[in-house]
Amino acid sequence: ALVSMRELLDHAAEHGYGIPAFNVNNLEQVQAVMSAADEVGAPVILQASAGARKYAGESFIRHLIQGAVEAWPHIPVAMHQDHGQSPAVCESAIRLGFTSVMMDGSLKEDGKTPAPYDYNVDVTRRVVEMAHRLGVTVEGELGCLGSLETGRAGEEDGIGAEGVLDHSALLTDPEEAAEFVKATQLDALAIAIGTSHGAYKFTRKPTGDILAIGRVKEIHARIPNTHLVMHGSSSVPQELLEQIRQYGGAMKETYGVPVEEIQEAIKHGVRKINIDTDIRLAMTAAVRRFLHENPDKFDAREWLKPAREAAKQICRQRYLQFGCEGMG
Ligand code: G3H
Ligand code: 13P
Ligand code: NA
Ligand code: ZN
Repeated sequence: ALVSMRELLDHAAEHGYGIPAFNVNNLEQVQAVMSAADEVGAPVILQASAGARKYAGESFIRHLIQGAVEAWPHIPVAMHQDHGQSPAVCESAIRLGFTSVMMDGSLKEDGKTPAPYDYNVDVTRRVVEMAHRLGVTVEGELGCLGSLETGRAGEEDGIGAEGVLDHSALLTDPEEAAEFVKATQLDALAIAIGTSHGAYKFTRKPTGDILAIGRVKEIHARIPNTHLVMHGSSSVPQELLEQIRQYGGAMKETYGVPVEEIQEAIKHGVRKINIDTDIRLAMTAAVRRFLHENPDKFDAREWLKPAREAAKQICRQRYLQFGCEGMG
């Protein structure tokens, strides 16, 4: 059944686990997430970015998720708008039937320029007022996602701040977080701790100076009753990079967020973990391999099947690693 995201996050907090929120754009990704959740008994957060709504089209995004709810009626599903760039985007998502929205006021409406604190408070509070009247959950963000190595946001996806940011913009301040939560009354807070979107997060396996899990603890200690959200949390498995290279792809050396670090963060209030890139890598690796090994095949179902299966395996792993088994 379709439920609010707040309900899922409250349960996760009560039982000390985290829920991976997977980005979906098409049929096969929705099926992968749902069938993995079904196998392990996990709750589901399906999230669609503005890009996903544009790619699939408004009615398809909506009916893909409705289809998932119909096909797996026993699984609780939250339908979440990822990175809403304005109150208008959040409002249109709510009209489409989303049960949760992210108002990302850490950036201006262009989705690139870091926004002033007061702007962030204003737009987030407005969305909370509108959403809460309808039982819809609100996620906000304080601090800009980006690399502590370079001061740059993940560039590949075109989401994130432009230019070079200093450390203070790239790490959420616990005191400011407390103020922000009080002023906006949001349900979940996305924090900046050195992660960025896309495949190229870190040039080496991250240590505490470039992935600030310590900051999660400080923020959680200050606002223990607010659900924390980690964006840019794909782990970028080395085996998938290898497989993509082996079958003709070109991927540079890169590192993601280690699962152990996410598990540590889950002990300190992180309840929603956003994952898109790992599914992209898994599907691409599977399709490259399949087409390389089967040069005579041309039925799209034949190469989409291993892609869907590879995405499912990633989802299944993350559900188990984050403690979701039997929680759905
Ligand atoms: O937040 C970034 C997600 O990976 C969504 O990416 O805007 O390309 O759909 P997208
Ligand atoms: P990744 O690019 O690490 O998968 O992050 C996705 C994300 O944060 C979507 O909002
Ligand atoms: Na989000
Ligand atoms: Zn994100």
